[in-house]
Amino acid sequence: MRTARDATTSKTTEHTEHDEHEDIAHESTECRSSAPYERRAAVPLDGRRIKAAVIGTGAIASGSHLPALAALAAEGEVEIVAAVDIDADAVGRFCADGGVPHGYTDLDRMLAEQRPDLVSICTPPTLHREQTVAALRAGAWVWCEKPPVPSLADFDAVEAQEGADGGPYASIVFQHRFGSGARHVRRLIADRAMGRPLVAHCQTTWYRDTAYYAVPWRGKWETEGGGPAMGHGIHQMDLLLDLLGPWSEVRAMAGRLVHDVQTEDVSTALVRFESGALATVVNSVLSPDEVSRIRIDCERATVELTHLYGHSNDNWRITPAPDARSEDVAAWRDFGADVPSSHLAQLRDLVGSMRAGERPRSSGADGRTSLELITALYKSAFTDTTVRADEIGPGDPYYTALHGGAPGWAPATPATPATHEEVSA
Ligand SMILES: NC(=O)c1ccc[n+]([C@@H]2O[C@H](COP(=O)([O-])OP(=O)(O)OC[C@H]3O[C@@H](n4cnc5c(N)ncnc54)[C@H](O)[C@@H]3O)[C@@H](O)[C@H]2O)c1
Repeated sequence: MRTARDATTSKTTEHTEHDEHEDIAHESTECRSSAPYERRAAVPLDGRRIKAAVIGTGAIASGSHLPALAALAAEGEVEIVAAVDIDADAVGRFCADGGVPHGYTDLDRMLAEQRPDLVSICTPPTLHREQTVAALRAGAWVWCEKPPVPSLADFDAVEAQEGADGGPYASIVFQHRFGSGARHVRRLIADRAMGRPLVAHCQTTWYRDTAYYAVPWRGKWETEGGGPAMGHGIHQMDLLLDLLGPWSEVRAMAGRLVHDVQTEDVSTALVRFESGALATVVNSVLSPDEVSRIRIDCERATVELTHLYGHSNDNWRITPAPDARSEDVAAWRDFGADVPSSHLAQLRDLVGSMRAGERPRSSGADGRTSLELITALYKSAFTDTTVRADEIGPGDPYYTALHGGAPGWAPATPATPATHEEVSA
């Protein structure tokens, strides 16, 4: 593979649009990064526009990242300088549709030539680790799609590449945490305005048919990273954790009830929080009546969020206990101006952190929480044990693979010839 240094020495950094189309047509189609260069420091922003690049130009890049970046570009906050995809036609279309000046099929080369301040990573999950590391080492902040990476070991490897003080940092896309509804309820719960949270339900009950799982990379640990707990329910669990704070233990079950997949297609879990609150969590792709729901019963009111793929103030409902004071209820129900959950809402927050040189929300320990819970959920389900927070670290098989090598769940490995001792044991 050509290194970024090769790329910069073999081609001038002066680019016309014509040059870039030649890049798209003729560059290597190997877009994995080997992060070959010395670590570069982030370039100070000093009030200028943030130079942003998008890696992976498929559905979420076109549907959510490009519109969010374009909205902030219109406000003078960012400038979209480049896009990268292993598929030359895809990146060509993305650049043409979005007015993006430079398209690449080589990530290292883009990082070396464009020196972006911010990189949106919108590729399949198994690429997130190496591409995030490459961008961080090139001095760029990263906004990486969920699920963050396939394992806690991968997450820790990424975090180790963040800047020590002031960035660059890698933030995970968890857009459901953002917007006026989640902010208001997080504040109410943190302040114990409705009393202590006691009982919660977290539900991602969606429906995916056989055709959905006919796509070869779906349903496999290696390529999808996990089943619905990882790929679908992660948003609701992440929001639950964002609202309720740290959990302390989990007991779970997983099933493979309908689809021909390596992973589960449904899971259920019981979670105890450090606050003492107890929660049920259901992640399913078998549920024809689809809904995403979080319900939290506090001492003086029940808070309920019901939506599918995103929420605004109208999706939240607060039901007071019979003896709640009317002025309290009015304050609880005052969500303020409606800011729907969205990529744009999170990106605004991230850009603010970049300008302040502060660790953004949903990065580091704050970005790791849902992957920790999912890892523990799988370990509990596959080992039939209660798993405590912080017990999964280096040396634990679930630290490096969500299936933990569990018989019946881990991908089958080729049989090794049995030794005489093994046969007689
Ligand atoms: N936040 C959300 O609500 C949300 C919703 C949907 C998808 N996602 C996540 O976004 C990510 C991408 O999903 P998608 O639905 O856009 O997938 P997609 O298949 O539509 O797009 C992925 C793109 O990555 C490109 N790609 C593959 N290998 C590459 C490489 N080595 N370098 C550069 N580009 C490469 C592909 O050519 C493709 O264009 C996944 O992690 C997914 O879970 C998040």
